[in-house]
Amino acid sequence: MFKIIEKTELAPKIVKLVIEAPQVAKKALPGQFVMVMAQEEGERIPLTIAGCDAVKGTIDIVFMEIGKTTVLLGKMREGDFVPTLLLGTPSRIEKFGTVVCIGGGVGVTAVYPVAMGLKKAGNLVIGIVGARKKELVIFEKEMKSATIALKIGTDDGSYGIKGFVTDILKEMLEVGTHIDLVYAVGPLPMMRAVSNLTKPYGIKTLVSLNPIMVDATGMCGACRVTVGGVTRLCCVEGPDFDGHLVDFDELAKRQKSYLKEEKEIMNM
Ligand code: NAD
Ligand code: FES
Repeated sequence: MFKIIEKTELAPKIVKLVIEAPQVAKKALPGQFVMVMAQEEGERIPLTIAGCDAVKGTIDIVFMEIGKTTVLLGKMREGDFVPTLLLGTPSRIEKFGTVVCIGGGVGVTAVYPVAMGLKKAGNLVIGIVGARKKELVIFEKEMKSATIALKIGTDDGSYGIKGFVTDILKEMLEVGTHIDLVYAVGPLPMMRAVSNLTKPYGIKTLVSLNPIMVDATGMCGACRVTVGGVTRLCCVEGPDFDGHLVDFDELAKRQKSYLKEEKEIMNM
């Protein structure tokens, strides 16, 4: 059990928790996630680590209150304890050259540690951040610190460029911007659209997937995704996969498996 030492509402229904977890903070690498429970007997959900301070012994997690567990987590207060388990394979941090890091909505919180790691590894990191509207733009300061240029877009045009992250990426590709790698985290339709855009250009594209997880130990198969025709387990082999090889149609269907049950629980 780990103690919540800080709680901040970054935007409506988007909560950041700073959790005292020295062992996790010491070991965590960019791209890894923690399994978090809001109740001892409750569902476990994967949340990507959004920040980590090995000296203070803390990790940051950010989530949107959309399901039963995230709503319960959002009700937790500073001083409460939350079970947390470090999992996942870290992102590949090496020198690629010019890397475009794309964060859609809350996904930007998962992109930030990777963007910072890539910057430290000597890459030229360009950031693209998208949100539905101005008040949902989060981690702008953090992403500015990790990038040489940051482009922000909102769906309604209330802040930055009007349009999706893919509109910004498309323009960069069309003017011939040299890109060695794209790293994208956000809603599935966004990661699929980013992968479809970069494929004809042959630009390596990594996406961070967060399918439904149950045991998170590679035993139950709940988190399976098909990548290049091969079944992969996201909890132990992910969360990063080659976006050009992911079967997004299958994943989207699997993500909807428990929508009815989730709605029923939310209405109880
Ligand atoms: P959202 O639906 O508000 O979308 C955010 C942005 O993504 C949009 O502003 C737009 O720029 C882009 N986008 C959305 N749909 C698109 C499409 N069809 N084509 C191109 N671009 C599109 O995002 P949200 O409600 O904040 O949800 C964030 C998502 O990120 C959640 O689904 C969450 O599960 C996921 N996430 C994943 C991880 C991870 O580690 N894999 C971590 C955090 C969040
Ligand atoms: Fe069970 Fe990954 S969550 S195998």
